[in-house]
Amino acid sequence: MAQPVVIILAAGQGTRMKSNLPKVLHRAAGRTMLHHAIVAAGAVQPERMVVVVRHGRDAVAAEALQHEPSALIADQDDVPGTGRAVQCALDAIGQAGLDTTGGILVIPGDTPLLDGATLQDLAAHHRAAGATVTLLTAVLADPFGYGRIIREPGTGLVASVVEERDATPQQRAITEVNTSVYLFDAATLRRGLSQVGRGNAQGEVYLTDVVALARQEGAATQAVPCSDPTVILGVNSRVQLAQVAAELNRRLTTQAMLDGVTIQDPATTWIDADTILEPDVTLLPGTHLAGRCKVAAGAVIGPFTTLTDCEVGEGATVDRVVASGSVIGPRAEVGPFTYLRPGTVLGNGAKAGAHTELKAATLGDGAKVPHLSYVGDAVIGDGANIGAGTIFANYDGVTKSRSEVGPGARVGSNSVLVAPVQVGAGTYTGAGTVVRGDVPPGSLVVSAGPVRIFEGWTLRKRPGTDSAARAQAALEAQTPPGQDPAALETGPEASHT
Ligand code: UD1
Ligand code: CA
Repeated sequence: MAQPVVIILAAGQGTRMKSNLPKVLHRAAGRTMLHHAIVAAGAVQPERMVVVVRHGRDAVAAEALQHEPSALIADQDDVPGTGRAVQCALDAIGQAGLDTTGGILVIPGDTPLLDGATLQDLAAHHRAAGATVTLLTAVLADPFGYGRIIREPGTGLVASVVEERDATPQQRAITEVNTSVYLFDAATLRRGLSQVGRGNAQGEVYLTDVVALARQEGAATQAVPCSDPTVILGVNSRVQLAQVAAELNRRLTTQAMLDGVTIQDPATTWIDADTILEPDVTLLPGTHLAGRCKVAAGAVIGPFTTLTDCEVGEGATVDRVVASGSVIGPRAEVGPFTYLRPGTVLGNGAKAGAHTELKAATLGDGAKVPHLSYVGDAVIGDGANIGAGTIFANYDGVTKSRSEVGPGARVGSNSVLVAPVQVGAGTYTGAGTVVRGDVPPGSLVVSAGPVRIFEGWTLRKRPGTDSAARAQAALEAQTPPGQDPAALETGPEASHT
């Protein structure tokens, strides 16, 4: 038997979101709601996915095709309503000549907790019962806003679905609701839609009205309540988006813990759906793993760390770090208060320490940038050490250039490496050196002149200040009586400062 064609409803504006972004492009757990729908739909191995678009058409279609390149994009016209959306999808399905003998599975694009297993169960039930229409329903403590399921006395089949705004007070008291997930026999759906009007509170073509029409034809309109009603929570407002995102996170953190990850505080730990965590990873409070992060066994992340699209090697520690697009090698140490920008690669056991920023920088195995540095567009060899406060000056105001520091080099504190520059293996730079040209391996490079001291300068040039008074006191304490401390030294600066 053919698999169902899946129609994903994604044309609505999402008025209640009060957003310029189409509703289905809002994100939960790092994925757009549309992406969640596509992943769920994939579980039934559909004949084809059809995504109905209208508001933000190009952006929504692009997102659909990114995650399901074979999706058929159906444009909804200016007639509003879920029923119209499905009509437009059926037109596209007809034009594409798709096989609909496996039925039409309709799912909403605004229900990110809906999972593949729920859809598989629905399809299995539909087949086993030989049903013409099967609705996924849920029993909610607070059914407000959802369409209510009106069951036929006796048969228990669905007589109709009544929207909140069209319902009587008695109907509103019903707690079984429509989830907007349905499996239809294609011909019944087509026939029903051709008869649906717009005589309702919203003046829309309601897909829900097909259910009553099908039942009037004598069709078996089954309702299957889902065992976990949270699965179907729809997002119509940002309040609901936050609730659904929190529930998704609760599921993702719970699954991670069941898979062997220690999460000290699941309530403040956020992991996106595309995160991969090996057993024995530890996540400390305030950790956010966004996008596609992959963390190997034994790594400790956090507290207060945000990683986006990063890979972390076995046993690495990442403490109070903001990083994106970076690779942190096995047993590397990062943090605290470290910023890794895209293109950074830290080798085995490398260290990027406190108040250090790296961008497109590669640190070799065991290389260290322990304190207060900026390293941009650079390759640092194995075992090299970059002294505190070193700056890789990669930008001359017009172009960015690269620097290389050879293995085993020791760059002195507060050095400036003016790119493009190559510092050879095993080379030392003196503290405060400005390196403006290439240095051969094994050299010592210094750029500052000899230290010059002008004794007594403060007393002569800043008389009457607190500094001068304190200097005077200190000097008197060590000067034989009768000698003038200010006269101790008359340096050459006296004439030109
Ligand atoms: C719909 C159902 C309601 C159900 C609820 C479940 C109808 C009439 N009502 O109501 O019974 O309880 O979902 O969450 O079907 N869409 C289009 N084109 C449109 C309008 C909507 O594609 O013209 C899409 C939206 O993008 C969205 C989905 O259909 O993904 C549902 O639309 P929405 O307006 O949120 O319907 P609800 O009022 O929630
Ligand atoms: Ca909705």
